[in-house]
Amino acid sequence: MTIIFDSLTGQTKRFATSLGFDAIHIKLYEGEPKDNLFLVTRSINFGQIPETTKNFLDSYKDHVVGVAVSGNKNWGENYGKAGDKIEAQYKIPLILKFEGSGFKSDKETVKNWLLRQQEGKRSK
Ligand SMILES: Cc1cc2nc3c(=O)[nH]c(=O)nc-3n(C[C@H](O)[C@H](O)[C@H](O)COP(=O)(O)O)c2cc1C
Repeated sequence: MTIIFDSLTGQTKRFATSLGFDAIHIKLYEGEPKDNLFLVTRSINFGQIPETTKNFLDSYKDHVVGVAVSGNKNWGENYGKAGDKIEAQYKIPLILKFEGSGFKSDKETVKNWLLRQQEGKRSK
């Protein structure tokens, strides 16, 4: 499993690099994936998916097993909405929305999900 993160100000990077798997910035990822990918991205501009994430998914969506999305609850109904859009448009399971760089419990939720994936179990 490799974690791909889309981060502008560092919050999703902090979350992604705390999960205990190899993690790489979305703009640096290239080539043919050798293992499953897990995406950590963010919401921008009223719940939109960042262009960098869209470009990545257009190439790699078939390899992405799940997504976690950072946001801020101050955005109300648009909180983490990029995650809902990715799930609907790309059919990638949304595992978690989290605020900022996430609480310890958020990291544990995603980490445990990733470990279960590695064990070959499919659960959300
Ligand atoms: C211009 C701007 C627009 C944002 N729009 C949303 C939004 O619509 N929904 C949301 O949940 N968070 C929104 N956020 C919050 C970011 O998703 C959040 O701060 C995220 O942790 C940023 O990740 P990064 O530090 O890795 O770039 C917005 C932040 C900025 C600066």
